[in-house]
Amino acid sequence: MKRIIIFASGSGSNAENIITYFQQRESVSVVLVMTNNPHAKVLERCKRLKISALSFNKTAFRKQEIVHSLLKEINPDLIVLAGFLWKIPEYLVKAFPNKIINIHPALLPKYGGKGMYGMHVHEAVRANNETETGITIHYVNEHYDEGGIIFQAKCDVDKSDSAEDIAEKIHELEMEHFPKVIESILLPKHV
Ligand code: GAR
Repeated sequence: MKRIIIFASGSGSNAENIITYFQQRESVSVVLVMTNNPHAKVLERCKRLKISALSFNKTAFRKQEIVHSLLKEINPDLIVLAGFLWKIPEYLVKAFPNKIINIHPALLPKYGGKGMYGMHVHEAVRANNETETGITIHYVNEHYDEGGIIFQAKCDVDKSDSAEDIAEKIHELEMEHFPKVIESILLPKHV
């Protein structure tokens, strides 16, 4: 059984989608959800789905002995950032090489970096009159949105699309692909 820990900061629709996908399969399970936001909606979702969840503050995240020792103890096969907005400290990147992945709601290297998250990304895509956008799933390194790309999927942006319309298209791509890409990383025969 492969074990995943999910990090999420907000609504947690991706976290829920990943949890329910693997609840219907035997080879992978989500063992814990961690959040930096004690009021995040993802915590309600975890309660409903009967998944362990906990929140932590910046000090606990930065200080190696707290979050780090918990992660080391659980020793997950993969750490999945699903709408997690804090930068991953270098000590964690080093402790889990090629074991931390992130989903970004644009076609990196476009629209990445600090401050580029959620609706900010879709508004920038709209403002620049892009004709396409998409999602990127990538390994996490010490720099925001710069680790090796694992997977991308595209969608069209129509002239009449608002940022909310773009967000909806991105959401659909995320729901469709993220769990399958995780599965293909953990169980390569599924590729
Ligand atoms: C997702 O669209 C994800 O790609 C994005 O935040 C959203 C979280 O939604 N992540 C970033 O922008 C990271 N830079 P969710 O909480 O409903 O899963």
